[in-house]
Amino acid sequence: MPNPDQHIVSRTFPASFIWGVATSAYQIEGAAQTDGRGPSIWDTFSHTPGKIIDGSTGDVACDHYHRYQEDVDIIAGLNAGAYRFSIAWPRVQPLGSGVWNEAGFDFYSRLIDALTAKNIRIHVTLYHWDLPQALQDQGGWLNRDTTEHFAVYAAEVARRFGNRVATIATHNEPWCTANLGHGTGQFAPGMADPKAAVQVSHHLLLSHGLAMQAMRAVKCSAKLGIVLNQWTATPATESDADVMMAKLEYAKSVQWYMDPIFKGTYPELALQNIDRAAFSVHENDMNNIRQPIDFLGVNYYTRVFCSAATPKVLPEGKLGFSDMGWETYPQGLTDLLTGLKKEYDLPPIYITENGMAVADKVVDGVIDDEARITYVKLHLNALAEAMEQGVNVQGYFYWSLLDNYEWNSGYAKRFGIVYVDYATQKRTLKNSALWYRSFISSSKTKSA
Ligand code: FCB
Repeated sequence: MPNPDQHIVSRTFPASFIWGVATSAYQIEGAAQTDGRGPSIWDTFSHTPGKIIDGSTGDVACDHYHRYQEDVDIIAGLNAGAYRFSIAWPRVQPLGSGVWNEAGFDFYSRLIDALTAKNIRIHVTLYHWDLPQALQDQGGWLNRDTTEHFAVYAAEVARRFGNRVATIATHNEPWCTANLGHGTGQFAPGMADPKAAVQVSHHLLLSHGLAMQAMRAVKCSAKLGIVLNQWTATPATESDADVMMAKLEYAKSVQWYMDPIFKGTYPELALQNIDRAAFSVHENDMNNIRQPIDFLGVNYYTRVFCSAATPKVLPEGKLGFSDMGWETYPQGLTDLLTGLKKEYDLPPIYITENGMAVADKVVDGVIDDEARITYVKLHLNALAEAMEQGVNVQGYFYWSLLDNYEWNSGYAKRFGIVYVDYATQKRTLKNSALWYRSFISSSKTKSA
């Protein structure tokens, strides 16, 4: 039986709480060869046969590059106070080093103007996975030089836009770039080498630290930070093997990124489980990584269920699973945030992503995505619970504004609160968008 409480957001959020929606460049922009944009590793990967479930590419995606004004109007119509998007590095610096592409910067400048005109706070991400292919040709994130190129790019964005946006995040989910991009090869650049993945994770963290310092030197007003994907790891049973597996999972995914940033070290448990000889950390790297951040972005979707048995013990999934097969587990958000608060000296947090893929259908012009609404309500209650326990969270961004290019799942998975008909590019608000709109309006009039 579903819990009736899940059908309401039973908690109150502060009136100042920020309600937003999120997207990323490659997933929505399209216009892959327009106005001087250089190719990225996702162009190469998506055009490689067999890599994407439905064989699609982000060449057109939601055509947001040409339709950004309509999309900004939709965001404003939702009463959303904030929008999180990413800048495509190859659009503003086609080769990832050297010459800047003014037409690319102009696009983001127009987007920033359009959002500002509607009073929408702007949260920028510098790297949402679309490395310029030219840098990949020189080794990509395995090449230490990429960290310095990234810092140059970050400083240029901060110099141009740093006083016009609320926040700038260096990376989105470096765990995914390292592990899915280089460990399993499911994501671009498609490398399947777990040792390389560990080295890449270090270079990503180093590039974050160097970019933070380069952006600080610019002295802009934007708050600076990073966005990490995080989860709790639950042992399937109380067996030692499952408990150990869960501890190791948490160390390798959450602490592996948090510890260097907040403590200047890698977690010992995870270090014991990698090939140290293949892992190169230079003398000053940890100091470079450990830079104060103004905010932490947390992306939360589900937990990781850890079973060492064969066959694996699977989670019961009392609250169901999404179209991605991800278990709905809102308690994990409360546990994660309260756990982080105990372990680290945290800056303010934004939930920079949370959302659900649903196999949406349009029936008589209506998209009745009740499951998505329930998912959001459950997670908002879980978030409010963490806030009541003292975690400082300042905003929530639903992933995603629009249905979009879901990486190696292509267009087969829909996360949007706005439905996109890819044949016509028509946008239709789903019931979840209508719900979010009225929820935001009512929560703005309440105070905690
Ligand atoms: C996150 C990504 C985002 C989107 C969601 C579903 O890992 O940051 O781009 O794909 O998952």
